[in-house]
Amino acid sequence: MSDFLNAYSIQRWLESCPQGYLENTVFGHGADENEPGLFLDNEILREDAVRSTVQLVVGERCALAASSGLINAAPDEASKRFLATQTIDEARHVEVFTQRLYDLGVKKSDLESTIGKYANPNLVKFAEVLLEKVDKKDFISGVVGQNIVLEGMAFSVFEMMHAMNQEMNPKFAHVLSGTIADERRHVGFGENRIGSLIQEHPEKRPEIEKMQKDMSYHMLATFADAFRGNQTAAELDRIGQERSHTKYQGADLGAMAPEEMETLLADTVLKEFKVRLGRIGLEYQSPARP
Ligand SMILES: [Fe+2]
Ligand SMILES: [Fe+2]
Repeated sequence: MSDFLNAYSIQRWLESCPQGYLENTVFGHGADENEPGLFLDNEILREDAVRSTVQLVVGERCALAASSGLINAAPDEASKRFLATQTIDEARHVEVFTQRLYDLGVKKSDLESTIGKYANPNLVKFAEVLLEKVDKKDFISGVVGQNIVLEGMAFSVFEMMHAMNQEMNPKFAHVLSGTIADERRHVGFGENRIGSLIQEHPEKRPEIEKMQKDMSYHMLATFADAFRGNQTAAELDRIGQERSHTKYQGADLGAMAPEEMETLLADTVLKEFKVRLGRIGLEYQSPARP
C-alpha cells in the first residue's frame, strides 16, 4: 500500500504533471502554437475537426462527472486523494478540448448547441452506462468502467489522433500528448487499486463484465460512425495535401482508408481491454460488432 500511496499521491501529481510536462503550456500547448490555417480555411476539414473534438469534450465531461462522483464512494483515503487529482485532470481535459472548439471558430454562445448537434448518440449511451454505476456509488464497477474501459478507449484514441496530427497540426498533437500522459496515470490507478477489491467481492464479477460488454458495444458503434462518416482523408487527398505518415501500432495511417483505421483502432482497444481486465481478474466479454 505504501508504494501505492507514493505513486498516486498529490505530491507526485504536482511534481510530474503541473510542475512537469504541463509546465509553461497554455491550454495544453506552447504559447506560440496555433491551429494551422489548413483546418480553419477548408470547411470540410474544419467541420470534421469540430465534430471529432466534440466527441472528446463529451468523453471528458463524462470522465469529470465519474471521477468526481467516485470520490465519495471510495473506501479509502488514498483513493479519494488520487481521484481528486484525477478530477482536476479531467476538468482540464474538458477545458483544453473546449478551447480547441473556440480555436476552430466555434462561438462561445454556440458551444452547447454545437456539442448537441455533433455529439455521437452512441457515445452518449456509453457515458450513461458508466454514470449509472457512479450514481449508485458503486465504486468497483465505477472504477472499472472509468479507469479501465473509458480511459483505455481514450488512451488509444488519443494516441491514434496524435499520430495523425503530429506532422500536420503540432499544436493539437501537443495538447494530446499531455492528456495521454494523464490517462496513462489514470489507467494505472484502475489496475492497481481494483484487483484486490474484485478478489474480495467475487459476487460483483457478472455485473461488471456485463457493463464492460455494454460499454464496448457502444464504443464500437461510436467508432463506426466516426470513421465511416469522416471525410478528412478524402479531402486531404483531393486538395493534394500529404497525410501524416507517423506510425500507429506499426501501421502507416497516412496510407489507410477510414474503414481500415476503424478496424485497427477497435482491435487495439479490445486487445488492451482483454489484457487489463485479465490482470484484475475479470473475464473480457466480447461485444457484438455493430
Ligand atoms: Fe481525460
Ligand atoms: Fe482520464
